Amino acid sequence: MFVCTGRLLHVARVLACRAQIKQHLSSISGTNNDDLANAMGKRATWENFYKTQSEQGTKQFDWFVGYEEVVDLVSPYLHKHKKSHNSHVVALDLGCGLSNVALRMCLSSEEPMRIVCADIVMSPLQTMRQQYQSTRGVVRNSESHLLFTMADASQLPFKDRCFDVVLDKGTTDVIIRSSRGGDLARTVVQESLRVLRCGGQLLQFSDEDPDIRLTLLNGVASRSRATVTFKEISTPHGMEYFMYVVQKES
Ligand SMILES: C[S@@+](CC[C@H](N)C(=O)[O-])C[C@H]1O[C@@H](n2cnc3c(N)ncnc32)[C@H](O)[C@@H]1O
Repeated sequence: MFVCTGRLLHVARVLACRAQIKQHLSSISGTNNDDLANAMGKRATWENFYKTQSEQGTKQFDWFVGYEEVVDLVSPYLHKHKKSHNSHVVALDLGCGLSNVALRMCLSSEEPMRIVCADIVMSPLQTMRQQYQSTRGVVRNSESHLLFTMADASQLPFKDRCFDVVLDKGTTDVIIRSSRGGDLARTVVQESLRVLRCGGQLLQFSDEDPDIRLTLLNGVASRSRATVTFKEISTPHGMEYFMYVVQKES
């Protein structure tokens, strides 16, 4: 009964948040659906969205799926890297927003983990940094840490081959909806592959159907010595998403 109520609340929260985003988008871009789609790829849209979240005191929100649903899917990739280079596993959460996936992974990992949380908007990074600072005492491995930085996913301020794993949960999904969506999304995938070490993985969580997303990912992967696989994720609340894995060759 409690579990059921919890799920219903979660679904209601996701829908409410989407409705809220839609409302923001409408106020910025008018009610036309094309404008609405374009607004999703604009920084101003997200700045306004997070301003409202901050005014309402929202400290955490996960798009699509949260830590509980992704931890078993993402952890095997992180552990694989730990075995191979025997030092910190280095990951990037691209367009992290108010997701606490990176925070919880960092806090709960037995192995030392360095995770960079990046977003094009500053406000969610500040909120997440405060949460990280307030929980610092309970980190499982004292060498693990989180870093926060503003970054545009299409022009990443990182050198080549410095991450083991890049996590993109819902970020390409919004970038692809902008007016230059297809081109920008391709650039985001190229940038992700550029910053990945050889043997690293780009993990995309998305609601976009494989018919569409695989065309984008395979197009970039075929020119970058990478391969693409995917799996369907059925969430406990009955929504369906996909996890795309772009594997950079060793
Ligand atoms: C749908 S939300 C997903 C947030 C988070 N990853 C999650 O799973 O809850 C998309 C995020 O991408 C960010 N974003 C949009 N365009 C971006 C860009 N060009 N570079 C980096 N982040 C971007 C937004 O600010 C927003 O936080």
